[in-house]
Amino acid sequence: MTKYQTCCDYLTQHPSTWLITGVAGFIGSNLLEKLLHLQQRVVGLDNFATGFQSNLDEVQANVSPELWKNFTFIQGDIRDLNDCHQACQGVDYVLHQAALGSVPRSIDDPIATNQTNIDGFLNMLVAANQAHVKNVVYAASSSTYGDHPALPKVEAHIGNPLSPYAVTKYVNELYASVFQRSYGLNSIGLRYFNIFGPRQTPEGAYAAVIPKWAAAMIAGQAVLINGDGTTSRDFNFVANAVQANILAAVTDDKAALNQIYNVAVGGRTDLNQLFKLLTETLASSGVQYTQPAQYRDFRAGDVLHSQADISKIQQHLGYVPEFDIVQGIQQAMPWYLSHLSG
Ligand SMILES: NC(=O)c1ccc[n+]([C@@H]2O[C@H](COP(=O)([O-])OP(=O)(O)OC[C@H]3O[C@@H](n4cnc5c(N)ncnc54)[C@H](O)[C@@H]3O)[C@@H](O)[C@H]2O)c1
Repeated sequence: MTKYQTCCDYLTQHPSTWLITGVAGFIGSNLLEKLLHLQQRVVGLDNFATGFQSNLDEVQANVSPELWKNFTFIQGDIRDLNDCHQACQGVDYVLHQAALGSVPRSIDDPIATNQTNIDGFLNMLVAANQAHVKNVVYAASSSTYGDHPALPKVEAHIGNPLSPYAVTKYVNELYASVFQRSYGLNSIGLRYFNIFGPRQTPEGAYAAVIPKWAAAMIAGQAVLINGDGTTSRDFNFVANAVQANILAAVTDDKAALNQIYNVAVGGRTDLNQLFKLLTETLASSGVQYTQPAQYRDFRAGDVLHSQADISKIQQHLGYVPEFDIVQGIQQAMPWYLSHLSG
């Protein structure tokens, strides 16, 4: 039995109260679904800046009415300290996902990104500390590696940030560390590497590559590759990120707390390979996409290659990714086909 299975069994026998910020978003709603299935009590906070009521509706449809009763939703804003205080009341574990994601969005509007990702983060730490929660697990980012050239990325070695978004995510790590030293608040930062899966929106200028391409291909539209297609990423299916959050929240190993961990698979797929994989997986679902990809300029602020060393999270938290990229795309495809057909 894996550490994750043991941990899930324990939680089912001993339910706790969790706060998920950003619960109406992609990762937040996947965390919600898993925790409700594990019979946990969940409070969710979201202002629908980039999240959707439909994500919450979908979770409701995927769990029983009895389990759904364990969920309390607060429509609120992490930029408002009172909302954060309200959300943290009686909570054991915080999974802080709320943020304005996307490198290009932060280049277009650095003030908005800063207000949510730094001011909002600080509010959450203050509220979590005052509520004496056991542990705050927060969404950090692989963008913190910035211009550091080494591959794979090891937690201790970061470079200069390449975007306002990357600055905000690094400042989160600094604040979390200072709150441990100043107030004794436990936290764990999870540096996510390109997470994908059901409920990740393909809409808008800041959409992530996998849902955006899947939507375009299903609709028979052109796929645009930024650069020459050799840009590579460590794409990680969302169930692996959910596992990392749960293991991080409940760890009782003091050496594992107050650390930063990469959350990835440890693989590397370039955009040309990704295009081929999506084409093949769609074909096996009966959708033929025959257009060649179209190439355009590289995008500002993007790093060329990204790949994680995941040995730290494996050793400290017992994380074992359950899905590689091929399995993850196969898992996600039915959702893409039923939701992205326009
Ligand atoms: N998806 C990835 O590949 C990835 C990679 C690295 C880091 N992250 C981080 O993971 C977290 C979750 O990302 P996601 O992909 O699920 O994005 P998402 O946009 O789907 O979810 C973010 C959620 O936060 C909510 N939110 C935004 N501002 C808020 C505010 N001021 N108050 C309350 N709620 C607010 C949004 O409405 C949304 O529901 C974010 O912190 C993001 O920066 C994601």
